[in-house]
Amino acid sequence: MRKTIIAGNWKMNKDASETEEFCVELGLYLGRHNEDRVLPLIAPGFPFLTRALEILSGLPAAVAAQDVSSHAAGAYTGEVAADQLRSLGLSHCIVGHSERRQYHSETDAEIRAKLLQLKKSGLIPIVCVGESLAQRENGETEQVVLAQMSGCFEQVDLETGREVVVAYEPVWAIGTGKTATAEQAQEVHGIIRDWLLQRYGADIAGRISILYGGSVKPGNLAELLQQPDIDGGLIGGASLQIADFCAMLDTAVQVVRGDSEC
Ligand code: PGA
Repeated sequence: MRKTIIAGNWKMNKDASETEEFCVELGLYLGRHNEDRVLPLIAPGFPFLTRALEILSGLPAAVAAQDVSSHAAGAYTGEVAADQLRSLGLSHCIVGHSERRQYHSETDAEIRAKLLQLKKSGLIPIVCVGESLAQRENGETEQVVLAQMSGCFEQVDLETGREVVVAYEPVWAIGTGKTATAEQAQEVHGIIRDWLLQRYGADIAGRISILYGGSVKPGNLAELLQQPDIDGGLIGGASLQIADFCAMLDTAVQVVRGDSEC
């Protein structure tokens, strides 16, 4: 059974006190609502990871970094290594976000190197893939997404499928208010699942959570989560307000419990 992951990618938002305030509120929410099949995850900026971990300690929530170095250790000023993140008690890390691909020219090879560092340190990478608007309009979505999958997972062995998460984030839907329809998203999630199945076999492919990202908000999450291959959301803008984040957790709980009123 795959967990539904509601992941907040805060990007370069929230300072120390805002992070603290959000985490305290989230802790209070989790004290009242608890559903094993839904994992809340937040990805604050590097300086605030420790505080978030402290506040959420002992609660059923995960804290992720937004990036990691492709190197193990050493003279790489400004970089943070997977082992350093692990030493904080972190469990997840986003890699290959389209903003990193676009503004920092990250390649699939570099993302793969980051993925391998995280795996070696026992952290779970959330590997982002997704096509641009021009690529979608040219009918290249499948080709682009599968090329990214191959590039990121080349010679990466998986043992259970639980040691990695994939996020499909069409670039044209990120921060634009344009969400892929549930059908458009499911189509690509199905393609990714098939690729994982060919590459790793049914058991492992069946355990890998594939998140959708791109203008997810409380109003459109339920429909997305009802798709068979959509196992959660990687949410930017709408994850910044605690009320919206908790509303999305409520939705996820309702969907996993098969509650029809959501
Ligand atoms: P958005 O961002 O929800 O603001 O579109 C998603 C993401 O970039 O992960």
